[in-house]
Amino acid sequence: MSNIIKVHTTPKTSLSYNIIVGYDVINLWNKYIPDLSIHRQIVIITDTTVYDLYTKTFIDGLVKAGYKVLTIKIKPGEKSKTHKVKEDVENQMLEHGCDHHTLCVAFGGGVVGDLAGFVSATYMRGIEYIQIPTTLLAMVDSSIGGKVAINTKYGKNLIGAFWQPVAVVVDFNYLHSLPKIHKINGLIEIIKICLTLDKKSFSYIDECLNEMLTNDDTLKNTTNTRQEFIIKQAIKLKAKIIQKDTQETNLRMILNFGHTVGHAIEKVSKYKILHGYAVGLGILVEAKISHLMGLLSKDDYITIVSIFKRLNIEINQLKKYNKEDLIAAMFGDKKNYNGRIRCVLLKRIGEVVKINDMVAIDVDTKYIDTALSIYLRP
Ligand code: GLY
Repeated sequence: MSNIIKVHTTPKTSLSYNIIVGYDVINLWNKYIPDLSIHRQIVIITDTTVYDLYTKTFIDGLVKAGYKVLTIKIKPGEKSKTHKVKEDVENQMLEHGCDHHTLCVAFGGGVVGDLAGFVSATYMRGIEYIQIPTTLLAMVDSSIGGKVAINTKYGKNLIGAFWQPVAVVVDFNYLHSLPKIHKINGLIEIIKICLTLDKKSFSYIDECLNEMLTNDDTLKNTTNTRQEFIIKQAIKLKAKIIQKDTQETNLRMILNFGHTVGHAIEKVSKYKILHGYAVGLGILVEAKISHLMGLLSKDDYITIVSIFKRLNIEINQLKKYNKEDLIAAMFGDKKNYNGRIRCVLLKRIGEVVKINDMVAIDVDTKYIDTALSIYLRP
């Protein structure tokens, strides 16, 4: 059984595409691979781990069906999102004669999606691509909405583009072998979207969090159904935001809750911490700032702290980082304006603060300092 969630981007970009969600949807080629006569060649960008697990089988099928396939494998991990790896991938594509009609498939987690998407955005001034996310984080967040980028020594995702895929294929089968740490990594992005937009879904996750993390086979069927419901809900929420503000002029910044601090943590950790975990810590700090500024109630703040505690994410884990380094890294964030740090702040669970209708709010460094000082030495 498959579901189709439509994404219509804002009129400026006038694109729309399907997110195909369900079990075995990977096999429904005719629903997401455009005509063979248009795309003579397919380039599949994947990482070495995902290749052994899933990509190989997918490619074998395509080759049998008559597609000409070039496979490019990158090393797993954030360290592959660089100018150098992008250039290597492009050179391989040029060497193998990929042209403007080549279809790119980003097959893997967030790193593969961001890199392959950015290659697609610039190769021959832009080629079509499909996102096939294989991690929970990529399924609910990074594969949707066309944000593609690489990192530089100055910070995360600083060089990139908005380049929408022609389809996103979310196959739940890929979640079965996902290690718990990656499940939590994705759950954090789901919690983020519910905290900013949907209190009801947040309460639902709060209710079934333990069973989603358990490996108890007797709970398998109920857990899977609830998990699928939550994933679809997160995708629908994100698709709605993309439709209203594809190019992140304002509203889409809601999805960056926890990310001003989260990206700084990733940078300071030299990308050793997983993105979701850094965002989880970032949410705790940004919720604390919201509370310190008198915007978020103590009760809501405590509810947020307690759901993350159940995922073993606690603000005191920041003590291994240097406060000044974190604040300096926050000054490099893309949302900043006029040299001031901006964050998305919470008004209550399910709703963000808006000032003059804007969702990225200037934050005085004294609040950031106070929120961090509780746990960090200067
Ligand atoms: N990951 C945040 C966004 O897509 O806008």
